[in-house]
Amino acid sequence: MGVQEAITALLSPAGRGDPYRYYAVLREQTPVLPIGNYVVLTRHADCDRVLRDPGFAVEHAGYLDASVPNWREHSSLRVLRESMLFAGAPDHERMRRLAGTAFSARRVAALRDPVRELVGAAVDRLAELGADGAPVDFVAEFAVRLPVAVSGELLGIPAADRGWLRAQVADLSVALETMPDQAQLGAADAAADALREYMAGQVAERRRSPREDLIGALVQASPHLRLAAHELTANLVLLLAAGFETTSHLLGNGLALLLDRPAESARLRTNPELAPSYVEEMLRYDPPVHVTSRWADRDTEIAGVPVPQGREAILAIGSACRDPARFERPDEFVPERPDNQPLSFGAGPHFCLGAALARMQAQLAFPLLLNRFPGLALSGPPTRRDRLTLHGYATLPVMIGD
Ligand code: HEM
Repeated sequence: MGVQEAITALLSPAGRGDPYRYYAVLREQTPVLPIGNYVVLTRHADCDRVLRDPGFAVEHAGYLDASVPNWREHSSLRVLRESMLFAGAPDHERMRRLAGTAFSARRVAALRDPVRELVGAAVDRLAELGADGAPVDFVAEFAVRLPVAVSGELLGIPAADRGWLRAQVADLSVALETMPDQAQLGAADAAADALREYMAGQVAERRRSPREDLIGALVQASPHLRLAAHELTANLVLLLAAGFETTSHLLGNGLALLLDRPAESARLRTNPELAPSYVEEMLRYDPPVHVTSRWADRDTEIAGVPVPQGREAILAIGSACRDPARFERPDEFVPERPDNQPLSFGAGPHFCLGAALARMQAQLAFPLLLNRFPGLALSGPPTRRDRLTLHGYATLPVMIGD
């Protein structure tokens, strides 16, 4: 297969669903591939370097002007640009300091028991829905519910609001795509406005009567963090949006891998202490985020290929996770892989803030699911979501067994 054929396949729904063999073609034939205004990188070493190289910037306003000139008309794109995800130095460092408040080791560790309870409740719910052999959609009934409940718990958002938030964040997630579909941005914009207003309301409530939850802690810390009001709400929206579909795809992709590998499921069921290495290998083997991008801030080169200032580098981190130069037997699921540090949470200054929380959910969920439902199996063919950046299942029908 040639490079052009692989690119065409990657842009088709079937190719997006199972892109790995096409990534391999690009990695082997043209690992640094200039196309139009882009340069596509498929090797681990190149993606890793660009993520850490201060000569490459996230897609801030100036760069977005070049690719989506009308982006300011879209509140979904605007709210994300006001958050740390698309902030460059020095704003990024300033905003990222909220991590010390939001994701301190103490705060994340304190969530372990509440997360365990939420996982237990989600498993109970699955047991009820799947009683008497009824098929259940694991994605709708478990994978998309748990992360919003957990983020809700972290932020201190009332349980009654979480269903509504789930729907809004699902609409907003289009704006996280590397090349957002303009036709879907209308719904994303409405969701961004609603979420920003909601978060502003939560902030105002904490100002009236201080609380110990994360929003309360950020409200108290924001003068010290030098966060403007719009930056605080934008980052709160990001904390919800960035942790939702990503974590639900980790749960869905991970379960599909286990159901396909009964021996691995049996091993994890009886050795729950292996959950961290299973989850790490799930993140590598079928990562929830496949693509991110950076812009060259100056003329440079990548592996000898000249990259002019202003060129956008598309980083295929889904491909980097299967690079044989970094991972031995990359197309095999090997939980005991040594030094398994995939790029699934990124690298460098924008490394995922919620990595510990996402891992915690998956590490608690899989052993519990396998032990509670030893007969868990697919009840029909799963379907993939047709997205380039966020990679996971739209539906995963299961039977929970006896
Ligand atoms: C399995 C689940 C997750 C995956 C695969 C994932 C993946 C990523 C990746 C790849 C990035 C870097 C993007 C880039 O550099 O261009 C990122 C950044 C980020 N993630 Fe996650 N994420 C997950 C869960 C979460 C959760 C649960 C939260 C919050 C509760 C979260 C919050 C963030 C934030 C705030 C950033 C931006 C950090 C910055 O710009 O400094 N993520 N994530």
